[in-house]
Amino acid sequence: MTYSSPSSESTATGVPRAGGPGLLAGRTVSRVGYGAMQLARLRDDRRAALAILRRAVELGIDHIDTAQFYGNGFVNDVIREAIRPSDDVLLVSKVGATPDPGGPHQLRLAQRPEELRAGVEDNLAGLGLDQIPLVNLRRAARGPGLRAEGEQIVDIDDQLAEMTALRDEGKIGEIGISHIGMDELRRALPVGLACVQNAYSLVSRGDEDMLRLCRAENIAWVPFFPLGSAFPGMPKVTDEPAVTAVARSLGRTPSQVGLAWLLHHAPNTLLIPGTADVGHLEANVASGAIALDDETLAALDAVPSRSGDIVVERP
Ligand SMILES: NC(=O)c1ccc[n+]([C@@H]2O[C@H](COP(=O)([O-])OP(=O)(O)OC[C@H]3O[C@@H](n4cnc5c(N)ncnc54)[C@H](OP(=O)(O)O)[C@@H]3O)[C@@H](O)[C@H]2O)c1
Repeated sequence: MTYSSPSSESTATGVPRAGGPGLLAGRTVSRVGYGAMQLARLRDDRRAALAILRRAVELGIDHIDTAQFYGNGFVNDVIREAIRPSDDVLLVSKVGATPDPGGPHQLRLAQRPEELRAGVEDNLAGLGLDQIPLVNLRRAARGPGLRAEGEQIVDIDDQLAEMTALRDEGKIGEIGISHIGMDELRRALPVGLACVQNAYSLVSRGDEDMLRLCRAENIAWVPFFPLGSAFPGMPKVTDEPAVTAVARSLGRTPSQVGLAWLLHHAPNTLLIPGTADVGHLEANVASGAIALDDETLAALDAVPSRSGDIVVERP
């Protein structure tokens, strides 16, 4: 597998690929995908959630990131209803947490091997699939967000053994990993990873070394929080003056510039920006066609990288 010769310029539904072709889990996908977490905000407007997913497919997206714990099953449920087999969308889910409705984070960690297995079963049922093509192991040794304590601190080798067993059994197609540090990633490489998901954006680039390692290993880099998320405490791409200046000069939005920079920065990067707004979805797809010249890229490369963590607002 290489990142230089993706094979197809359009999706199964005949739409030009959003952001061009990339590779994930052994298949070609559009480089601009969709992160479905924000759909949880549309719990009371199922029709709007379904419309966003259909619009994503129409726009040339065929990679959707989800989790059973998004909206306590609501997000997987609308994906199951909206996405048809003929859309040939690569559905990617994650395990390592479970719904906790009413809790401060809406989810709690579920890191133990038997909990990972239960998470896969919940996703299979929620998405109505016999196999989930790619599942990320959401680790919890580092942030942002919840960190493991007590019996939730589980050795990564025990978790990878369970993920490998689930792959051998055909319940999952490929393994990805998330919230990971360099040492853990090196330990995970022998199982054969399809992707790494860590928090990373133009304004928060602490994992540059890891991105490089993924590229060298032909592992897709699928950053979550590519815009800085909706959570307080995480640095936002739209708050960065250099980004807004470039956006103004190009007649684009700061979010579009942030996403375009990610696509230019590394060829193994695939985007999963999250939105519950059709206009934003369309803008995010359009960012895949933005060309940034060398001077602009140099100005954006010089933006300082900041770290942050999710701040939970209590009522
Ligand atoms: N592996 C993991 O552990 C993990 C963790 C967290 C998230 N994820 C995945 O990563 C995806 C992306 O993360 P995220 O959704 O939290 O954060 P994000 O994509 O960085 O940002 C989402 C925020 O940006 C806004 N936004 C999106 N497009 C915009 C645009 N064009 N203009 C202005 N604002 C825009 C959204 O608001 P609107 O809804 O109003 O557009 C929302 O507030 C998630 O959806 C999820 O699938 C994975």
